[in-house]
Amino acid sequence: MPKSVRDILLMKNSKKITVVTAYDYTTAQLCDKAGVDIMLVGDSAGMVMLGYENTIPVTMEQMCLFTEAVSRGRQNALVVADMPFMSYQSSKSQAIENAGRLVKAGADAVKLEGGTEIKDTVHAIVDIGIPVMGHIGFQPQTSTLQEGYKVQAKTKDAALRLVESAKTLEEAGVFSITLEMVTKEVSKIISSSIHIPTIGIGSGPDCDGQVLVIHDILGLYEKLKPKFVKRYLELSSEIVKAVELYKSDVIAGKFPGTEHSFSMDKTELERLRKEIG
Ligand code: KIV
Repeated sequence: MPKSVRDILLMKNSKKITVVTAYDYTTAQLCDKAGVDIMLVGDSAGMVMLGYENTIPVTMEQMCLFTEAVSRGRQNALVVADMPFMSYQSSKSQAIENAGRLVKAGADAVKLEGGTEIKDTVHAIVDIGIPVMGHIGFQPQTSTLQEGYKVQAKTKDAALRLVESAKTLEEAGVFSITLEMVTKEVSKIISSSIHIPTIGIGSGPDCDGQVLVIHDILGLYEKLKPKFVKRYLELSSEIVKAVELYKSDVIAGKFPGTEHSFSMDKTELERLRKEIG
């Protein structure tokens, strides 16, 4: 039985929550086997899977496809899908319709970037029964349009605004909030001021859980290497090495060997030879 939103809520103050992004069936199966609590079908898929410069071009169709694949690969984790840029900002009905599409694609909950300004949208989605995860601090869909990659909540006023946003989102009904690139002091304050779990990315150790992009954990994405990422593998160089070995085997005629080939029945082969001379 997959984890429920209630299971995640109960983890606050009892056990740290582990979240990774996943975008495809195979990786989702492996992350699920590793015991993560939540798989986030992040719109970071646009960058690490599709090669976009940022998450802005990501469409609902793409997010639905990634969500379908991940939900087929999970057995235990909760699946949360990102609502892409401009899939919820136009109107509440647009937000409800698109949140519903992601749930039909296999998500258990959706994630929206934004603070106080999206409280009514969050409320509308939660009201029809779809659980929502908030996302404040650095918001990849829009922060890059304004000021680029920048640590959030470094001043008193900025910190107060963020605490306010977190409380408003909690009131609007989110079941947890992602805090991205928020100073560790402010993450701690937010985490102890609300009753729902905070999930940090680049936001220090005092959040209730942590999320990382799977390509960063595995050392697969070379374009960006943020300070907050811990790479547990350097898979990209391993992949290059493996494919180089394959190429040299093909060129040298070492692959495929007899163990990788199929044989005809001997009598049939004899008959074939006779026929074709
Ligand atoms: O899209 C994503 O991967 C995310 C994480 C950075 C939290 O939203």
